[in-house]
Amino acid sequence: MTNKIILITGATSGIGFQTAKDLAAKGAAVYIVGRNKERAEEAVKEIIAHTGNKNAGYFLANFSSQKSIRALAEDVKQKLPRIDVLINNAGAVFPDFQLSEDGLEMTIATNHFAYFLLTNLLLDLIKKSEAGRIVNVSSGSHYQGKLDFESFTKNKGYFTMFAYAQSKLANVFFTQELAERLAGTNITVNCLHPGMVKTNIGNKEMPWFSSHMWTLITKLAGITLKDGAKTSVYLASSDDVKNVTGKYFDKCKIKKPAKITLDKTLQKKLWEVSELYCPLQQTCLNG
Ligand SMILES: NC(=O)c1ccc[n+]([C@@H]2O[C@H](COP(=O)([O-])OP(=O)(O)OC[C@H]3O[C@@H](n4cnc5c(N)ncnc54)[C@H](OP(=O)(O)O)[C@@H]3O)[C@@H](O)[C@H]2O)c1
Repeated sequence: MTNKIILITGATSGIGFQTAKDLAAKGAAVYIVGRNKERAEEAVKEIIAHTGNKNAGYFLANFSSQKSIRALAEDVKQKLPRIDVLINNAGAVFPDFQLSEDGLEMTIATNHFAYFLLTNLLLDLIKKSEAGRIVNVSSGSHYQGKLDFESFTKNKGYFTMFAYAQSKLANVFFTQELAERLAGTNITVNCLHPGMVKTNIGNKEMPWFSSHMWTLITKLAGITLKDGAKTSVYLASSDDVKNVTGKYFDKCKIKKPAKITLDKTLQKKLWEVSELYCPLQQTCLNG
């Protein structure tokens, strides 16, 4: 991976941090995106100390805010000559219905709209790579997901796990649609389930009962960060997948995603709705 430039979101902790370390260990220049300056600085220090690879740095952004994502994209365009691999990994769960500053429900705003907007804003920079890759961290919970477009802006009986599953289903639809739009270019896009991984995702925003349940479940059945990062690292770096695009992976293997993802009308509608809520201005994919 020497000479490859990687941008990975949500890499101040959990799967993203491990993925960043493992890709830096392979020689890539790794740039992480965090929302907290101290945590981002600490993460970069640890990546360098752990791998001896000094080609690491950080950017700052809050993925629940489109203004912040747009500022991030500008910052990245100023500082990086190209992106060889973009890993959309930042994600969260929210206990209650909350609207972001853009008027979007927080789960879908953070877990889907951030992937959609950042990727589109950085496409020109990814096209500068000889062989660009986009990796979207989805989840097996997408199998329980349904798309209810009204719930993107309205409280229709909010339930944390439904909102999360919906956002992760959106990651799969987004991957498929983007792969179709990028056909014939030098960019591939794939998504993945990392496994049930021992991270603090279920402890950050959630009330104590849910948080304790998450800790217990992952203690009993969760895999290590190292194993949880494997499919992201594989999709970012392996020659096996250099010509594979639009697929869902689990344990470094292509897996059939939920049946609902065969619905092309829904797939196209999600893109249209995403553009409506996240105007792209003039990017290469919307003319
Ligand atoms: N853990 C699992 O079992 C599991 C299973 C399936 C899928 N996933 C997916 O894996 C990805 C990583 O999750 P994880 O388990 O590693 O959780 P995690 O340890 O909580 O990591 C999530 C990362 O996203 C960042 N983040 C969250 N909200 C953000 C925001 N508004 N702005 C900027 N950054 C934000 C976090 O920043 P901070 O460090 O500042 O909190 C953190 O770096 C997510 O997309 C998740 O849906 C996880």
